Amino acid sequence: TDSLNAELLDLALEVARRAGDLLRDGRPADLGVAATKSSPIDVVTEMDVASEKLITDFLAQHRPQDGVLGEEGASSEGSSGVRWVIDPIDGTVNYLYGLPSWAVSIAVERDGETVVGVVAAPMRGETYHAVLGQGAYADGERVRVRPAPPFEQALIGTGFGYVRERRIGQARVLHELLPQVRDIRRGGSAAIDLCDVACGRLNAYYERGLNPWDYAAGALIAREAGALTGGRPGIPASTELTIAAAPGLFEPLQALLEDLGAWHD
Ligand code: IPD
Repeated sequence: TDSLNAELLDLALEVARRAGDLLRDGRPADLGVAATKSSPIDVVTEMDVASEKLITDFLAQHRPQDGVLGEEGASSEGSSGVRWVIDPIDGTVNYLYGLPSWAVSIAVERDGETVVGVVAAPMRGETYHAVLGQGAYADGERVRVRPAPPFEQALIGTGFGYVRERRIGQARVLHELLPQVRDIRRGGSAAIDLCDVACGRLNAYYERGLNPWDYAAGALIAREAGALTGGRPGIPASTELTIAAAPGLFEPLQALLEDLGAWHD
């Protein structure tokens, strides 16, 4: 097991580095929107597609039996019990506008359990990774969550979906939460937000409506750094609701989000 996890980590780091280089060095000056998805503001650029192709070509060469799930449509079952969950650009809107907070996010599952997470953030010059049971790292240095502050001093990251009805609910939750905490951040990349919880740059993060490719790698990295992750009480992080926070802050945040009905639109 451990040697397979080590091999999967090496491949994930290598392909995330290659995709990150392509995105950083190959971003067209006139980058535009190639297509839209769930709404007119949910965009795909040619570089999302190019990054996903680079990653899936690499995996077809090195791990042809594995399954793949990618944001831009890659989907195959595989026969090895290993599946790669890929966000070729997490933070596409930041990337489109030339803001630095975007990442390549790669999680590897074995029999449905996430065992490896890599989040490469080239414009930050940082790559985060974790292997199940082996801690979380930023550029090879161990990272740990910041101890929980009192609730009213928490710096909390969040994000919003691209569909108007969902945003109305998200705004309602924010309306209640914002006056109760130190401040809110909306960084624009869920994967980086989760890594920011892991390395103590945020006390907590929550979002409704994420897809597995947005949170799978970052959630493992946050957990391996000592965060608790989950959704509604007793339920793991999912599309319904994803929360990550240090123990002691996670519980009151989860309870408040439950009270506010943050899991529905
Ligand atoms: C988005 C980012 C954003 C979050 C959205 C995601 P994408 O991912 O993670 O921070 O708020 O919900 O869809 O579309 O840039 O891969």
